[in-house]
Amino acid sequence: MPFETALTKALDLRVPVLAGPLGRGTSAEFLAAVAASGSFGFTALMHMPEETVSGELAKMSRATNGRFGANLTLVVDQRKRLAAALEAGVRVFSMWQGDLEPYVRIIKDAGGLVFWTVGTPEEAARAKDIGVDFIVSQGRESGGHLVGSAPTMSLLPSIVDAARGVPVVAAGGIAEGRGLVAAMALGACGVWMGTRFVASRESANHRGYKERVVAARATDLVETRLFDAGWQESPHQVIRNSTFTRWEEAGRPASGQRPGEGEAISRFPNGKPLYRYDVAAAWDAMEGDWEASPLYAGATVELIHDVKSVAEIVGEIEATAEAALARVADLRSGR
Ligand SMILES: Cc1cc2nc3c(=O)[nH]c(=O)nc-3n(C[C@H](O)[C@H](O)[C@H](O)COP(=O)(O)O)c2cc1C
Repeated sequence: MPFETALTKALDLRVPVLAGPLGRGTSAEFLAAVAASGSFGFTALMHMPEETVSGELAKMSRATNGRFGANLTLVVDQRKRLAAALEAGVRVFSMWQGDLEPYVRIIKDAGGLVFWTVGTPEEAARAKDIGVDFIVSQGRESGGHLVGSAPTMSLLPSIVDAARGVPVVAAGGIAEGRGLVAAMALGACGVWMGTRFVASRESANHRGYKERVVAARATDLVETRLFDAGWQESPHQVIRNSTFTRWEEAGRPASGQRPGEGEAISRFPNGKPLYRYDVAAAWDAMEGDWEASPLYAGATVELIHDVKSVAEIVGEIEATAEAALARVADLRSGR
């Protein structure tokens, strides 16, 4: 891989590629495959009950030799989860959606590295003063919850311009090497991918969900606030499913009056019911109506045609990046 950047140096990466958190899909096995491929993955702590965080992270740490990071969604108080993660030895953190300043101080005191996912140049301009090490620019075409104010092609350069020298990682709309090269040309030091890794063999997302990502076209995607149980008023991009269609056919009623509200579609691993409209993405061992849960995915569904191993995905990124660079070189020399 012809790229040596602030990102590859900081995390000792072979390729400037990060795997974003994928809900319960980010298992220890998945993170181990990502680390072995020369890239680096993040696990979300949001869905882990506080008392399980240290045990889960210890498992991930053993599987990856400590080569993974933790993600905190700051819509709830995450101080206990952060303390447990630091205790477990995690030193790379990603945060978004809330006031990160108090968390940055704690992470920096422990010698850690901070990634901040932003959606506007105004946020990027504050990153340096807050002490952020890497900005993640999340374009609006992303899968999952959304903060981007514009798609990657225009958001990323505007964030690079505003970042005052803080290196920027590009997220949203990238699934292979052509996107990586384009992101580098727009000023990024690496990429952060979500939807592509959902459809990987090792991710612990439900098999049916992976197949839906492979089968979907961009026209099957919707941006909505529908799956709000556990995280309200937060826009997210999903593949249309039965829950969305039924709600649409019912005239898009408000939260509390929607079809099937309060109906359990499955159970969480701890036995608690999982209700329709919950934010939880379908995981591998999920029983019941997995298709009714949010099938988070972004515009890269246009580029994803198979479920592949993480090693194949990263290998393909390298090969297609080389081809894209060769093509640009040819164009420059008039060949
Ligand atoms: C299933 C799924 C779950 C996600 N969960 C989180 C999360 O907990 N925290 C976070 O910062 N981003 C989360 N994201 C967003 C990704 O980190 C990333 O910004 C996005 O997927 C990039 O766009 P792409 O899907 O086009 O690659 C999630 C994305 C998906 C697809």
